[in-house]
Amino acid sequence: MKKEFKTAPSCLEGKEMYGFDWKEHVTAIPSPLVVVTSYKENGKTNATMQSWLTFSNSDGFYCIFADVSKYGHLYSSVKNRKSLVINFPSADIYLKCYSTIHNNKYEDDEIEAAGLTAEKSALVDAPKIKECFLNLECEYVWEKELVPDSYRVVMCVKVINVVMDEEYYNEKKKGRYGDTGYLYNIHSPLNPENGERENTYIGTLKKYATYDELKNKNF
Ligand SMILES: Cc1cc2nc3c(=O)[nH]c(=O)nc-3n(C[C@H](O)[C@H](O)[C@H](O)COP(=O)(O)O)c2cc1C
Repeated sequence: MKKEFKTAPSCLEGKEMYGFDWKEHVTAIPSPLVVVTSYKENGKTNATMQSWLTFSNSDGFYCIFADVSKYGHLYSSVKNRKSLVINFPSADIYLKCYSTIHNNKYEDDEIEAAGLTAEKSALVDAPKIKECFLNLECEYVWEKELVPDSYRVVMCVKVINVVMDEEYYNEKKKGRYGDTGYLYNIHSPLNPENGERENTYIGTLKKYATYDELKNKNF
C-alpha cells in the first residue's frame, strides 16, 4: 500500500538530519559516487567526493553537479582554472577516496595524502587519479544558485576527454557493473513511519534483464 508524506513525519521531530532534507532519506535514491579532482590556487591537488550528479547527452556530453558548496575547495579551484576531472573509483579503493574528506586542508596534496596517484590530464588543467577505472576530463561551462542566495550551486561541465581502463569497457572482461564496477551512494535510508534510519551504504549495480528478456518474463 502506498502512503503519502507531504510534510516531515512526526517521528522525525528532534532527529539530527545533518543538513539534509528528510525526503532525501525517505526516498534514498542511489546516485553515482565519484571523486572530483582539480588544482588548488597553490598548485596542490584537490579531491572532493561528490554524489549528487547526473549526465546530459542531447547537445554533447555534459555533467550536471546538483549540489556544489560555494565554500569548498572544489568550487574555488574550478572557478580559477575552469577545469576538473571526474574520477570513478571501484570498491577496492573507496576508503582511500573517502579519506580525502579528512585530508582537506589548503596545504594538503589530497590525492597523494589518500595514498593514490595523481596523473596529468591530456586536455584540461586538472589532475586525474590513476587508480580510478574511468576519468572524465571536463571544462567548466556554467553555474546557477540552486535557489536565490543559496550557498550551493548547480554546476555544468562539458566532458571533453574520456580515459577508461579497457578491462572495464569490455563487458566480457571486468565490465562496468557488478562488484568491481561503478559505485552508488545509498544515503542512509529512513522509514518515515518509525524514524528508523540505516547507515549509508556503498552500492554496486547488477544487470537485471535486457528489454527483450523483460518482455518474456512472466510477472
Ligand atoms: C559519499 C559522499 C558524497 C558527497 N557528495 C557531495 C556533493 O554532491 N556535493 C557536495 O558539496 N559535497 C559532497 N560531499 C561532501 C564533500 O566531499 C566534502 O565536504 C569535502 O570535504 C569537500 O572538499 P573540498 O573542500 O575539497 O571541495 C560528499 C561526501 C561524501 C562522503
